[in-house]
Amino acid sequence: MTSTPQKYADDTLAIEEKNSFIITKEYRRFAEFCDACRREKYIGLCYGAPGVGKTLSARYYAKWFFLENRLPTHLPYLPLHPDISSCRTLLYTAEMSNPYRTIKQRISQMRTQLGRFNEELLPPEQQTRTVNNIGRFCELIIVDETERLKMEGIEQFREIYDRGDIGLIFIGMPGLEKKLSRYPQLYSRVGFAHQYHALSQEEMRFILSHYWEKLDLSMNPNDFTDAEAVSAIARITNGNFRLLNRLFRQIQRVIKINELNCITAEVVEAARECLVIGVI
Ligand SMILES: Nc1ncnc2c1ncn2[C@@H]1O[C@H](COP(=O)(O)OP(=O)(O)O)[C@@H](O)[C@H]1O
Ligand SMILES: [Mg+2]
Repeated sequence: MTSTPQKYADDTLAIEEKNSFIITKEYRRFAEFCDACRREKYIGLCYGAPGVGKTLSARYYAKWFFLENRLPTHLPYLPLHPDISSCRTLLYTAEMSNPYRTIKQRISQMRTQLGRFNEELLPPEQQTRTVNNIGRFCELIIVDETERLKMEGIEQFREIYDRGDIGLIFIGMPGLEKKLSRYPQLYSRVGFAHQYHALSQEEMRFILSHYWEKLDLSMNPNDFTDAEAVSAIARITNGNFRLLNRLFRQIQRVIKINELNCITAEVVEAARECLVIGVI
């Protein structure tokens, strides 16, 4: 069977990711931090425990879901989603296996593509197609999974930063500041450090009420059963987004299998037993 080549860029998954993202207080803090690094052209460090939402926040901030499928040159990029006209950020996920030499080349390719897409979305009389102009659309580069980079990789980013008129953010786990402080050349250029926190209890309650709705249930804060279930979830997940999502998937399963119509502390407990907590 031969498959027909895809002619148009497909944004179905991107739109789904965009719509399912919950704008939390932590995301707002993260976005302010990114805006500041971008505006001031500083280097910023963002660190936080695994599963709190760093990667997803970076993807949302950069509108990365609209760009990532269009960057490989052999894939179709048209039609360009209108949101791309406000994309000014590149997201680079560090890989263990990638030799550091490819970093500059990769960033430069992504930068050109970002510029091209942005130019194509401008009215024809404003399009210049000159190399300098195409480069100016990139204002911020976010590097995710920074701990995977060796010294040479970090050095490449410092060079990119020094040459370009851009902000640069390194995302990683707690301890990232310490690791980077070993590179004084880079560390002396760090303008902001930002800690990404887990969800607060209050916010988790708000998010859970949405999750309840997804199961066609309504949460009543005055109902003891609901309050008990919510505090069980809060205790188990400790505000960790990844854990919360995983636990809720199990809750959904327990509810369905047992044909229940409310989430109780026992349901939460049964769901927890299906998870290996800690492996997140
Ligand atoms: N703002 C958000 N809205 C919806 N789900 C989220 C959000 N942030 C995180 N999640 C969920 O938590 C999971 C872990 O988030 P991720 O960004 O990968 O964490 P980190 O990079 O900090 O390890 C995601 O796969 C997603 O299921
Ligand atoms: Mg991550």
